[in-house]
Amino acid sequence: MVGLGQSVLGTSFQSPVLLASGTCGYGEEYADLIPLDTLGGLVTKAVSLEPRAGNPPHRVAETPGGMINAIGLQNVGLERFRSEKLPWLREHLVSARTLINVVGHSAGEYAGVVSGLDDDEGFLGYEINVSCPNVKDGTLFGTDPQGLSDLVSKLRRLTKRPLVVKLTPNVPDIGHYARICEDAGADGLSTINTFPGMLIDVERRQPVIGNVSGGVSGPAILPMGVYLTWRAAAAVSIPVIGIGGIRSGADALQYILAGASLVQVGTALFVDPSAPIQVQEEISGYMERHAIRSLGDLVGALEIPGRDPGPVEDSP
Ligand SMILES: Cc1cc2nc3c(=O)[nH]c(=O)nc-3n(C[C@H](O)[C@H](O)[C@H](O)COP(=O)(O)O)c2cc1C
Repeated sequence: MVGLGQSVLGTSFQSPVLLASGTCGYGEEYADLIPLDTLGGLVTKAVSLEPRAGNPPHRVAETPGGMINAIGLQNVGLERFRSEKLPWLREHLVSARTLINVVGHSAGEYAGVVSGLDDDEGFLGYEINVSCPNVKDGTLFGTDPQGLSDLVSKLRRLTKRPLVVKLTPNVPDIGHYARICEDAGADGLSTINTFPGMLIDVERRQPVIGNVSGGVSGPAILPMGVYLTWRAAAAVSIPVIGIGGIRSGADALQYILAGASLVQVGTALFVDPSAPIQVQEEISGYMERHAIRSLGDLVGALEIPGRDPGPVEDSP
C-alpha cells in the first residue's frame, strides 16, 4: 500500500479514514472485527455531562439507500466515559487518533465535558456535535450563527487540543457556518451530520421511528455530503473531515477531491465492518494507479473544466 499518511490538526494521521461518531461505540465494540489501530482514527459516540437514556424504540430503520436513526444521543456520560471507556481507547488506539464527540443542552454543558476531559491522556481532541437532528435541542447551536460563535469561542478558551466542529447540512449556506467556526477559533470542521427525515408505516398509519423523525445517513446522502464538503472547504482554510455515505475508496476520494483532508465511515460499518479497511486499500490503489505520492496532493484537487481553480462562487 502506498503511504496514506498526512499531517492534519497538528499531528500525523497514518490514514485519512476514521470511524464516524455513533457508529462504532467507544471502539471496544469493534475491536474483534477490524484492526482499529491501522485506521486513521475513531470518533467516539457523543459524550454529555450526564448520562442519557436516548429515545424510545424503534430507533433505527432501513431507508432506500441508507438508514434513519433516532438513537437520541444515548451515552454513559462524562464520568463513566472517563473511568470505563477512555482507558480502553488509550491502551488500544496508539497509532490511530481518537476524537471525542461532545454534546450538551447548553454551552455550559459542552464546556463541562471539555474541561472535565482535558487533563486526561489518550485522545487527540474534540469533535463538537452541534448538528444532531434526533433530539429536541440537537441543532440549536448549529443553526444559530451567534450561538455557534459564542460556543466555539468559549470552548477555545478551555483547551489547546484540536477543536473540530461537526456541522449540520440543514442550513442555507454551510460556508457561512464554516467561517463562523474558523473565526471563533475552531481547528477543523466535520461535514456532515445526518439529514432530518421520517418514515411512515402506512398499514398502522404511524411513524416507523419512536421519536417520529430521525437522521438519514448512508449512500443516499453521499452527493449532498460531497457538495456541502466542497462548499465548506472552499470557505475556510482549516481542514475539513468529509462524512456521508462513504462505502468505497472512490466515495472517499470524492470527498478528498472536494477538499476534505480526512473522511469518516459510518453507516457502511453496519453492512460490512471491514468497509473502512477496504476504503483505505482502494484509496491506496488509486494513488498507485495515478502515481500520486502524497495524499495531500489530492486534497481539493477537483478540476472543473472551463473554470480556473479559485474561490467557489457557485450556487445551486
Ligand atoms: C446510529 C447512528 C448514531 C449516530 N450518532 C452520532 C453521534 O452520537 N454524534 C454525532 O456527531 N453523529 C452521530 N451520527 C452521525 C454519523 O456520525 C455521520 O455523521 C452520519 O451517519 C453520516 O455518515 P454515514 O452516511 O457514513 O453514516 C450517528 C449516525 C448513526 C447512523
